[in-house]
Amino acid sequence: MRLNIERLCHQYGKHLVLENLEFQSPADERVLCLIGPSGGGKSTLLRLLGGLESPSSGAVSWDGEEVNYDERSMRALRRECGFVFQQFNLFPHLTVEKNIVVPLVKVHGWSLAEARDRAVELLDRFGVAGQGDKAPDALSGGQQQCVALARAVAHRPKRLFLDEPTSALDPEMTAEVLDAIREFVDGGQQIVLATHEMGFVRALDAETLLIADGSVVESGSAAAMLDAPKSEFAQRFFAKVMRY
Ligand SMILES: Nc1ncnc2c1ncn2[C@@H]1O[C@H](COP(=O)(O)OP(=O)(O)O)[C@@H](O)[C@H]1O
Ligand SMILES: [Mg+2]
Repeated sequence: MRLNIERLCHQYGKHLVLENLEFQSPADERVLCLIGPSGGGKSTLLRLLGGLESPSSGAVSWDGEEVNYDERSMRALRRECGFVFQQFNLFPHLTVEKNIVVPLVKVHGWSLAEARDRAVELLDRFGVAGQGDKAPDALSGGQQQCVALARAVAHRPKRLFLDEPTSALDPEMTAEVLDAIREFVDGGQQIVLATHEMGFVRALDAETLLIADGSVVESGSAAAMLDAPKSEFAQRFFAKVMRY
């Protein structure tokens, strides 16, 4: 994916959250990582990039095509994306399997039989086979997040947006979910990932944006940025988050 962001601004009421944010991917990227302090604007940017919200001003284009932020185009954009958030966001009143099946049928127009086959395949692949008939809250947090990932990729989205997908999980479950993400990356899935897992970001070594106070402070490949941050801000930020 080639991402181009020009003078992107976003305001909540009077609060300017993104301020003339600029970014051009240097190459055809498969993965983009968004890192930086809380409140810096990562989630807001991710929501704008995935068409969940429209910016106050500025422009975004994917692969040379500018995103239209009218309702109809945003719905179309959302349909070709997958989303996983910090909280699991499964439908609590539906079984695990139905969490995957219902959107495939209702939103993506799959037949019930196809959708069920896909759900079974994905639950198996994400290590939650045999859990399909349970309510989401009968599963552990890590398993629920694996179901959320399975649901997000079920319709084979062009792009997957992951917003701190492991920040509500303990270390063992974090590792399971990161393994699943790694598998997507290796399988060629396009991903935009906001995270505080610096070790994982370094291991992916993808194009990374350090975002703070609503703009891109630094960007480049992760290892280079983490090993030799250019700005004083980045040096201080990494010294703090990687001290222990
Ligand atoms: N829906 C909202 N309404 C008002 N303010 C918001 C909303 N969402 C986020 N913000 C504010 O926008 C700023 C950036 O938030 P966010 O994009 O969530 O940052 P990050 O994901 O980097 O922590 C924060 O100051 C946050 O309080
Ligand atoms: Mg956030």
